[in-house]
Amino acid sequence: MATDNNRFQAIISHCKEYGFIFPSSEIYDGLAAVYDYGQWGSELKKNIKDHWWKSMTQLNENIVGIDAAIFMHPTTWKASGHVDNFSDPMIDNKDSNKRYRVDHLIEAKAEELEKEGHEEQAEILLKEMDTLLAADDLAGLKRLIETYKINCSVSGTGNWTDVRQFNLMFSTQMGSVSEDANEIYLRPETAQGIFVNFLNVQKTGRLKIPFGIAQIGKAFRNEIVARQFVFRMREFEQMEMQFFIRPGTQKQWYEHWKQERMNWHLALGISAEKYRFHNHVKLAHYADAASDIEYDFPIGFKEVEGIHSRTDFDLTQHQLYSKKKLQYFDNDINEETGKPYGNYIPYVVETSIGLDRTVLLLLSEAYEEQDLSTEEKKDSRVVLKFPPKFAPIKLAILPLVKKDGLAEIAKDIMNDCKLHFKCFYEEKDTIGKRYRRMDALGTPFCVTVDHQTKEDNTVTIRYRDSMKQERIPIAQIKDIVQTAIS
Ligand code: GAP
Repeated sequence: MATDNNRFQAIISHCKEYGFIFPSSEIYDGLAAVYDYGQWGSELKKNIKDHWWKSMTQLNENIVGIDAAIFMHPTTWKASGHVDNFSDPMIDNKDSNKRYRVDHLIEAKAEELEKEGHEEQAEILLKEMDTLLAADDLAGLKRLIETYKINCSVSGTGNWTDVRQFNLMFSTQMGSVSEDANEIYLRPETAQGIFVNFLNVQKTGRLKIPFGIAQIGKAFRNEIVARQFVFRMREFEQMEMQFFIRPGTQKQWYEHWKQERMNWHLALGISAEKYRFHNHVKLAHYADAASDIEYDFPIGFKEVEGIHSRTDFDLTQHQLYSKKKLQYFDNDINEETGKPYGNYIPYVVETSIGLDRTVLLLLSEAYEEQDLSTEEKKDSRVVLKFPPKFAPIKLAILPLVKKDGLAEIAKDIMNDCKLHFKCFYEEKDTIGKRYRRMDALGTPFCVTVDHQTKEDNTVTIRYRDSMKQERIPIAQIKDIVQTAIS
């Protein structure tokens, strides 16, 4: 049985063994902090994407979706502030040559203190760190590391360089002749693709403020400390939504989206104790308020989503750098002045959730090792208790034996159901082994076709979580699954 400490490792191994997530280019020993989604991981990920997309663009009449390119004009990143500001304070250990993000190094120390029962000291350390980060006091951060005797986990020493800022963007060249080639960046957030398209979408969609633009896509960051499976990757996916509002209403909309997004998380069926808000003290260069939704991963409470009040920073900057007006004409009447609000650059509240972190969240929530031993025999199973909506496979169809026409009946059920949801047909191995495999993949329903099926058109349905089995008519299978996933 996995203890709390090795639960994370158990989930990583499970993901690899059952086709969810593999290290990237593994035959070449992998690439640090880059992962590939296998056959079941990509189904899980797609189900999450579909759910988020629908909750944003279908359930909100004033939010539309786009799909912008990863490559953007390099001035985008100058305007957005990423060239100058998208950096983290880093420190190198002179003995091991390992580089660390300063906040991660200090947070790890705080966690260690907490585990040793020094909660108060841990809290003081984190408070001191927040104050120094907010003041950009790099020398102060180094002193803090020295005061708390924080050592490198590789060399074991506290022989540190000074703290310096490192930019996290990846760059490459666009153009065939090296002299003419432009340095361009792989986008570190999808949001800028929304900002530069703000007027295209507003005008062609005839959208009235307040309205939102949503997007799902890849983002790239040269993360320094990247050892936490899909929690911190160098290539990852974001699901972001920029909500364009009237200046002065940002506080109200920020609170609205904080609550809406927390409600979305709770509607996944996850208990409220597993979540908390973390309001930022040190704000990103574009924000006037920011909060993270943190989930209690097996590696502790960590950020899964950010809600940021980005003011009019991005649109103002793009207007300045592109010399194109990015204003909106608001003809609603301002009750105070009795005149239309007129032209202005909208303010923006953003919700930004990591898709890969949501995959990890659902895996962490779903993964269970169960001891099913009885006095007569030892037994156990690993089960992924995904909400049926997210399960990679919704229904497994299993003929008890291949012969006697049972396989044909099972295939007929498969052909009928596969038009509606993802099904899986399997005839190898004992039925018990097949059930266990489906538990490990998180399949909520299995139906078994046996000799009685030939007589009365019924099958045995087995429920993943309770392992209960009951006899139902074939005609009811589709309804049962569809009700569970809708
Ligand atoms: N547009 C705002 C923005 O990018 P962020 O807090 O830097 O804000 C938003 O990122 C979300 O993207 C995070 O809450 C996290 O879920 C996800 N994310 C960020 N960096 C990541 C990484 N290296 N690996 C996986 N997910 C990451």
